[in-house]
Amino acid sequence: MGVPALIVAAGSGQRLGAGGPKALVDLAGRPMYAWSVDAFREATHVNRIFVAVPPGKGDLFDEPGIVKVEGGETRSHSVANGLAAITAAGEPEMVVVHDAARPLISPALIDAAIIGLDQDPELHALIAAAPMTDTVKRLGSDGVVVETLDRSELVSVQTPQVFRASTLKQAIASGDLAAATDDASLIEAAGGAVGVIESPSGNIKVTVPADLDLAALLLERSR
Ligand code: CTP
Ligand code: MG
Repeated sequence: MGVPALIVAAGSGQRLGAGGPKALVDLAGRPMYAWSVDAFREATHVNRIFVAVPPGKGDLFDEPGIVKVEGGETRSHSVANGLAAITAAGEPEMVVVHDAARPLISPALIDAAIIGLDQDPELHALIAAAPMTDTVKRLGSDGVVVETLDRSELVSVQTPQVFRASTLKQAIASGDLAAATDDASLIEAAGGAVGVIESPSGNIKVTVPADLDLAALLLERSR
């Protein structure tokens, strides 16, 4: 299988507060997005790597072998731009989307997600997710707890997310891109079937400065 990958790296990193794009922040000696590029290079079933870059900052992304695409106003707009570039020369069967903000992604998880979707014709997407470790409660409009949700029914959603390319294209064309925090929600809204694959606990997302320290520690340890 040869599946194209899109690493979305066009965010501004407001919550990290590093004064520049999060994807370019130094992490264990390299720009953060380079760790994800490495994992996709190593994955057996990935054949091309597209990276959505912040508008005007593309020159700062210099990993060899990547195809750069200008990102958009929201994450979903960046995915839309990337998908347009991927499908410009013909539509592949599947695409895999990943956040540059998850630098600990493993090639094994990427391949397992691709194989999992390929082998389940009932699914339109297969997304990485972790079991919930915190207890989750729902609040009423007065800020008082209404109920405690059943944790066994909940997962915390991550990337990579693998999609049937045609389904993702349709979902993006008809969905509310500004409101979506992940692409799978666009598929759900369009009535598609989204499966989950359990990701290892190390696949953390770098959002705030403490996450950067933890990611550096985990990367050093895995070397
Ligand atoms: N992303 C993107 N295009 C955008 C917004 C986000 O490609 N317009 C990407 C980010 O680069 C990141 C991933 O989507 O890899 C997840 O987004 P998030 O963690 O929210 O990153 P930022 O938007 O950069 O951070 P913040 O929300 O703190 O500004
Ligand atoms: Mg963001």
